[in-house]
Amino acid sequence: MTVVPVTKVLTQGIGEADLRSIDVYRKRGGYEQWTRALASLTSEQVMEYADKSGLRGRGGAGFPTGRKWSFLPKVEKPRYLVCNCDEAEPGTFKDRMLIENAPHLVLEGMLLGAYGIGSHHAFIYIRGEFKEGHRVFSRALEEARAAGLVGKNVRKSGYDIEVTVHRGAGAYICGEETGLLNSLEGKRGEPRLKPPFPAVEGLYGMPTVVNNVETLAYLVPILARGLEWFAAAGTERSKGYKIVSVSGHVQRPGNYEVPLGTPVRELLELAGGLRPERTLKAIQPGGGSSACIFEEQLDLPYDYESLAKAGTMLGSGAMVVFDDTTDFVRAAYNLVRFYAHESCGQCTPCREGGHWLELVLERFTQGRGLRGDLEMLHRVSAAITGINLCPLGDSIEPFLKSVLVRFPEAFEARLAGE
Ligand SMILES: Cc1cc2nc3c(=O)[nH]c(=O)nc-3n(C[C@H](O)[C@H](O)[C@H](O)COP(=O)(O)O)c2cc1C
Ligand code: SF4
Repeated sequence: MTVVPVTKVLTQGIGEADLRSIDVYRKRGGYEQWTRALASLTSEQVMEYADKSGLRGRGGAGFPTGRKWSFLPKVEKPRYLVCNCDEAEPGTFKDRMLIENAPHLVLEGMLLGAYGIGSHHAFIYIRGEFKEGHRVFSRALEEARAAGLVGKNVRKSGYDIEVTVHRGAGAYICGEETGLLNSLEGKRGEPRLKPPFPAVEGLYGMPTVVNNVETLAYLVPILARGLEWFAAAGTERSKGYKIVSVSGHVQRPGNYEVPLGTPVRELLELAGGLRPERTLKAIQPGGGSSACIFEEQLDLPYDYESLAKAGTMLGSGAMVVFDDTTDFVRAAYNLVRFYAHESCGQCTPCREGGHWLELVLERFTQGRGLRGDLEMLHRVSAAITGINLCPLGDSIEPFLKSVLVRFPEAFEARLAGE
């Protein structure tokens, strides 16, 4: 096996130093970009870093960050930055690692993001289950406040910035940005109809930017090392680095930071490869809503365009590996059951279709599938796609379809009486 070099940008120092402590973080250059921005950069200049570096959102959709910020209307209204740390995507565990181990980096990224969009109030929405992350981040915020890095007239710059920490209550749909905003406002965590988009009418009806933890954290090294440095890594349209959460049937599951465009094969090797004597069956490359790729596609570059071209997606960067011990009927059932359970229920196709598919797949897990069910699984999963209010309803089909097509024999073996 080749030795794949490890990249460390956001992951730099994690596991080596106690980056939870503000003193340690500052000794390593922490908060220098925040104080530099306040002292010598305009908001527009910080926005330019976000834009020209080519940084794309690391939360799932890969939307260009600078472009998202540019949609904010130039009106005299309060505007808000919201850091999305809901991270409930199956197989994704990078944001949790960052807030638990590098909370000041996340906070500095949020402060830079808020400054870049001209906001005086930033929020972080932390998944309810992340008790430790919530505790660690809240402590980091208090340290930063005590050090005069958050609050009124920070470092006598005339700039006020408040940060609010909010804990979710364990609903996947609250990771969807408008469901998150509703939840932050104390309402049911149900996605909103778009338009209006959050940039125009977001939190409390005000212009709002929602960005992922990892996206905001990358602002710190981008300001420190220059946008050219970031843009030089990755590919033409997928610039920079990405933390990929690799899990499943590998020897060293974990978070691996790599330049975008790294071949999938190298990611697999970084995670220690397959267990001895096992063979690869499939890889789900970008979270629960991505279609699988297979052994013959291992040389695919791990970037937004290459994966989309291959009929799947990079998503949040969660790569789940399946070897020959996998029961794909059960895997499909598990994932569909997850989506059916997490549907907020506003849209009939997502609410009813998800539940229906779950029931049919449950029959298969019990060896009671009916021959007509196979065609029905294809038909129903396709029929409920593309007609929902948010992407959750469209997340059901890709994995299911990819394993139905690739491993039909696994499903046929579970037909009643066979
Ligand atoms: C069902 C669903 C769940 C989502 N969960 C998350 C999440 O946990 N964290 C996240 O950053 N984005 C999540 N997203 C994407 C957000 O809606 C949004 O695009 C993202 O926070 C924007 O940040 P970015 O531009 O920095 O990627 C989810 C989307 C959907 C449809
Ligand atoms: S697609 Fe599903 S989760 Fe999304 S709004 Fe509709 S019912 Fe809710």
